[in-house]
Order: sequence, then structure tokens, then C-alpha cells
Amino acid sequence: MNTFDKIAEASKFLNTFNIHRSKVAVVLGSGLGNFVQELVVEKEIPYENIPHFPVSTVKGHSGKLIFGSIAGKHIIAMAGRFHFYEGYTAEDVVFPIRVMKFLGVETVLISNAAGGVDPSFKVGDLMIIRDHISMATINPLLGKNDDRIGPRFPDMSEPYKKELIHKAKEIGAAMGVELKEGIYYGVTGPTFETHAEYRMIYLLGAHAVGMSTVQEVIAAVHIGLHVFAMSVITDIGIREEDNVITHDEVLQAAKEAEPKFSGIFKELIASLY
Ligand code: HPA
Repeated sequence: MNTFDKIAEASKFLNTFNIHRSKVAVVLGSGLGNFVQELVVEKEIPYENIPHFPVSTVKGHSGKLIFGSIAGKHIIAMAGRFHFYEGYTAEDVVFPIRVMKFLGVETVLISNAAGGVDPSFKVGDLMIIRDHISMATINPLLGKNDDRIGPRFPDMSEPYKKELIHKAKEIGAAMGVELKEGIYYGVTGPTFETHAEYRMIYLLGAHAVGMSTVQEVIAAVHIGLHVFAMSVITDIGIREEDNVITHDEVLQAAKEAEPKFSGIFKELIASLY
């Protein structure tokens, strides 16, 4: 079965539940799953029940689609996402994003845990992603293009909507939450970077590095979704001293920054539509 038909089948299945329509979807990154506790849940559907959905395996990712509302707005939350390093194809990784569009979503808010490479960053900082560098990941649009999904050569001049960045900055200022802004460098992982790699990434003009998001954003732009994305800085890669980074440390740092993160996402959702 081709990808278009798979997306159509997955969305048809989800539509059988007669859930409220949502214009906003949220992708929750590592350690940021507590956001769902703020949702008034209408329906939860484990990924494994949805036709053609890959199944999440990473610690800290629970793997379900949650239909609910927050700040009076209906949203679809992806609690758990798929990473290329888990062995999924790039096309698997972006499948849920495409399904969101078929369900009527117009804007997707993406979050992730990322390593800071800007030396002024601290663990726990929030960084609005202004742009990304994708050349160290596998492009999910490689291969035959299906024009029913999106164009062969998508424009990437504004993958992260300026208007949404502007709104988020206003919200941060009003809430007294400092928001950094910068460029996310996408890698496949699963290794964290070497000292030399963190340095290279900074020299190439990025401010943070992570193992998700970029493929999702490419597919979102391809299919015509508006994107906002924010990183929680969970470690600082650029440090000279011994810099051992563990997944548990990343999850812990994300958990600590979670209330700040949730506050911004909640207000941003409240401001949409
Ligand atoms: N590098 C890549 N991915 C990450 C990091 C990092 O330092 N921290 C959290 N995700």
C-alpha cells in the first residue's frame, strides 16, 4: 500500500471515534510528557491500535495519541514520538505528522530535549527554534514524491512560522519566562556528540543539537502544516571539562524545565484560532 493510502486509512480509523476536530497538534519530546496531565482528555488511543503507526520503544515515551482540550482549545497530543535511531525509516518517523494533517490539523507545536552548543546556554533553558540544519539526518522526502501529499521540492525559507515565534516571545515576556531563540542542528544519534562534534555544530552556526524534530518539520512543511518548535536544553555539549551526558540526565533536566515549557505551550495554544 502506498503512503497516501496508509495515511488515509489511519485517519479514517481515528475519525471513527467521532472526536472533536482539532486544529492544533502537539508533539511531546523526551521528559516532556507531563504536559498531558494538564489536558482534559476526551480519548486516548495507543499507537499500536492505529493502522500503520509505528510503535515507540524509548524510555520516557509512552506512545499514544491523546485527544483532549487545554485552555478551552481542542488539541491532539502525541505522547511519544518515533526516532530514526530506533530503526524506523525516515518515512515511519513522519507518518503521524502526516496523519495529523488528514485529521484537519493546521498547526503543529513540536518539542524536544536538545544539547546546547551556544556557550551562553544553561541546562533548563528553553529555546524557540528559529531554523534548522538538516544535513546530518535522513530527509524523509527522499524517493518518489506523491503530489497528493506535497510538492517535490518544498520551499524551506520559513519552516518555523515567524508569526508563531513572535507570539511565543510575547507570551514568554508576559509570563516572565526567558526564551532563547536559535538554530537546531538535527543528528541521527543515538550517540551524544563528541567534543569535536559539539564544537563543529556551534561553528556551523547552530545553537542546539538533537535527535528528533527536523524530519517531522520537513514532512509538516511538505504537507502544508504551520510549525512552531521549542527545545528544552538538557545538557551543555560545548563545555571543555569532563562532559559525560546520560539519557537519565537529559530526562531529569527536561522534567525540571517542564512547568515552564508547559506554561508557554498552553498560552500559545490559547492564542491560536
Ligand atoms: N545531543 C543530541 N541530542 C540530544 C542532546 C545532545 O547533547 N541532548 C538531548 N538530546
